[in-house]
Amino acid sequence: MSEEIKTIKVTIDNITIDVAPGTTILNAARQIGGDVTPPAMCYYSKLEGSGGKCRTCLVEVAAGSTADPRPMPKLVASCRTGVMDGMIVKNITSEKVPEARAGVVEFLLLNHPLDCPICDQAGECHLQDLGYDHGKEGTRYQFARRTFKKEDIGPYIQLHMTRCILCYRCTYVADQITNKRVHGIVDRGDHAAISTYISQAIENDFSGNMIDVCPVGALTDKTFRFKNRVWFTKPVDANRSCNTPGCCGKATLWLRGEEVFRVTARKDEWGEVQSFEGKPGWICNACRFETKETSKWNIEGLTTISRHSVIGANKYNTLEMPKETIKKVMSGVEPKLLMDIHSVSGVNTNDIHLSELKGPAHSEDFKK
Ligand code: SF4
Ligand code: FES
Repeated sequence: MSEEIKTIKVTIDNITIDVAPGTTILNAARQIGGDVTPPAMCYYSKLEGSGGKCRTCLVEVAAGSTADPRPMPKLVASCRTGVMDGMIVKNITSEKVPEARAGVVEFLLLNHPLDCPICDQAGECHLQDLGYDHGKEGTRYQFARRTFKKEDIGPYIQLHMTRCILCYRCTYVADQITNKRVHGIVDRGDHAAISTYISQAIENDFSGNMIDVCPVGALTDKTFRFKNRVWFTKPVDANRSCNTPGCCGKATLWLRGEEVFRVTARKDEWGEVQSFEGKPGWICNACRFETKETSKWNIEGLTTISRHSVIGANKYNTLEMPKETIKKVMSGVEPKLLMDIHSVSGVNTNDIHLSELKGPAHSEDFKK
């Protein structure tokens, strides 16, 4: 006889859902989806141990459980708090959460440079989105922003330590996905920094995935650096059979015409790498940095981008050309012949159409 799977009832922003025991509030909210889902800057469902660092996912627990319905005294990190049966959670319906989140954003931006106009992450930066939703117009911080000595972490990845929010996601990628971890967070508090310690290059087949998990522009793709604003490129889903063990071979190509400007892993609605057949779809460095010809990929079609994203601008799934009306209203005259001067020209006879001549007009053309 199959064992009955017990579920837990949780209510988030007045929406009740049944979830499996051990589910966190954040993941329960993701199952509901939409605005109810708190933002998450450090939690990453595909990286074990992630979460609990940034506090952007704070929510109010109005009732702990059916057994103990007292509210939790403080806001809790939803990515690290498990649901209890009968728990009542407030995110967008809470009066306390927006103020707390605004405070968290203010802290995250305290030392963050305001260089979105030149940052390659602009347009797909979670901190930028968070800033728009919860940020304040000005800063109360009066001291010089923190700076770091520039460090070269290899040929493929650009590190901008001043933009880092110390979410630890990249170190989990290095720990859990690559076979050679050579970077981590060194020092503490205000001095804490991502470093390769002795400036070793990050040389392993999957290091590029750190770029995909970085929620800000601290780790960007050197091969794409300053080449284009991401919203001017056209993302398409593509695949290839890749021989690197562990590479899913499914990627998003960011095109300008036929040219591949950038290759990334495919992202889901939470900005995380998509899963294929139950496994995270990480891609190898060969696919990401060294396969930039469309001929080497099987293009599946346009990537679905949220209509709220700036990247989605002008990228339609189907394109219907507007009907040509000029010819109809101009008694059959083609638009390219609108500047027709036949009736007033002494030299340009009716049978010579300047727009149909190959190259510049020549006196010989008018003698025909
Ligand atoms: S470099 Fe990016 S991914 Fe790594 S800790 Fe900083 S913000 Fe997080
Ligand atoms: S996402 Fe929960 S603390 Fe960062």
